[in-house]
Amino acid sequence: MVTGSSSGIGAATARRLAGLGAGVLINSHSTGAEGERVAASLPDAVYVQADVSEAEGCAALVSAALERWGRIDILINNAGTTKVIPHHDLAAASPEVWRRILEVNVIGTWQMTTAAVDALRAGGAGCVINITSVAGVRCTGSSIPYAVSKAALNHMTALLANVLGPEVRVNAVAPGLVDTPWTADWDAIRHHVTSTAPMRRSAEPEDIAEACLGLVRSRHVTGQVLVVDGGMLLRQG
Ligand SMILES: NC(=O)c1ccc[n+]([C@@H]2O[C@H](COP(=O)([O-])OP(=O)(O)OC[C@H]3O[C@@H](n4cnc5c(N)ncnc54)[C@H](OP(=O)(O)O)[C@@H]3O)[C@@H](O)[C@H]2O)c1
Repeated sequence: MVTGSSSGIGAATARRLAGLGAGVLINSHSTGAEGERVAASLPDAVYVQADVSEAEGCAALVSAALERWGRIDILINNAGTTKVIPHHDLAAASPEVWRRILEVNVIGTWQMTTAAVDALRAGGAGCVINITSVAGVRCTGSSIPYAVSKAALNHMTALLANVLGPEVRVNAVAPGLVDTPWTADWDAIRHHVTSTAPMRRSAEPEDIAEACLGLVRSRHVTGQVLVVDGGMLLRQG
């Protein structure tokens, strides 16, 4: 199951998993036609439109996966949202902005994981990967509420790993700048990354998918946050 997989990192991860023979549940909230297209392009996939911030939506995703495949082995909690707000503009980060970002990014991930946990446990080798961000590690990111939500997810990753083993491993991938529709007009940041980071480029969605695959295969790794940023954090102290 890959939440938020109608485009960007989620779609790339779904394609990578499908290439290895997995059946994949594709999801998005508003972009139904794009999600259907991604599912139709894969050999064994189903698309389910649902908002991960709603408990019924998460339950519907789990039911659809169990109905189709009878099991859930991997959950990639990728769906996320933000609002770009300069960190010094405290007034713009209103309670409404905070609520929506925390509801999708934090509560959405929580209720997706709890909805799927029995099925993940049942197989004995379940794997959860939360897509977080370098914004959850350092003082950076599109807004303070977004950065706080990703820091919360990094900590949630460790806390869940601590209680869900040995049947389920929980890890996080924390990307730096990735070229997706989300960052299409972030030219100044892209220029900074390409001129500063040791790897001299922003990430492609496939770079993040590859890191997810690495964690799926790393059967003795749990509770970790894997930063995938081309070394950019090394230059930020
Ligand atoms: N791009 C970057 O530089 C970057 C860096 C660090 C971390 N990330 C993280 O990577 C993840 C994916 O981002 P992306 O860059 O690949 O963006 P993207 O291409 O815009 O994809 C976001 C996906 O999430 C879905 N989504 C958003 N809200 C949702 C909700 N409430 N319920 C279900 N699905 C929802 C979107 O579909 P709908 O719009 O139709 O709902 C879309 O499929 C996010 O968690 C983001 O925080 C991205």
